Amino acid sequence: MIIEGKVVSGLGEGKKYLSIKKYKEDIKKYLGFYPYEGTLNILLNNEIDFSNFKYFETEDFTHNNKKYYGIRLIPVNILINDTKISGGIVLPKKTKHKKNILEIIAPIKLREKFNLKDGDTIKIEVKR
Ligand code: CDP
Repeated sequence: MIIEGKVVSGLGEGKKYLSIKKYKEDIKKYLGFYPYEGTLNILLNNEIDFSNFKYFETEDFTHNNKKYYGIRLIPVNILINDTKISGGIVLPKKTKHKKNILEIIAPIKLREKFNLKDGDTIKIEVKR
């Protein structure tokens, strides 16, 4: 299934979490890459129901006496121009299944590599 959406800016939350080593190690374990420390937010034209997609779920952990919840990772390919990059969708563990903003992770900074700006369209291929 191919999902299309527009690049938007978030609140810098992704960076905060992805700089934590345990999340990075879990992403490497399940998706096979160490993520660039941030999430690319994608606004979808329609809400999508993620309940039928295959996902991995990481475990809760504590770090500096603070509890961090596990996350769900959906493996995807990110399609930009003629390039296909392995990445993932990150969802909170306790998530509503329907979403219209997706947080995308990848091994590289996609904005830099592809000169992406807010409003640009990208495609995400979800592996069923
Ligand atoms: O500030 P925001 O919540 O949008 O993003 P962030 O998670 O702090 O990530 C920092 C910046 O890197 C943002 O501009 C993201 O859109 C971008 N990013 C990217 O280009 N490629 C990725 N794989 C992840 C994030």
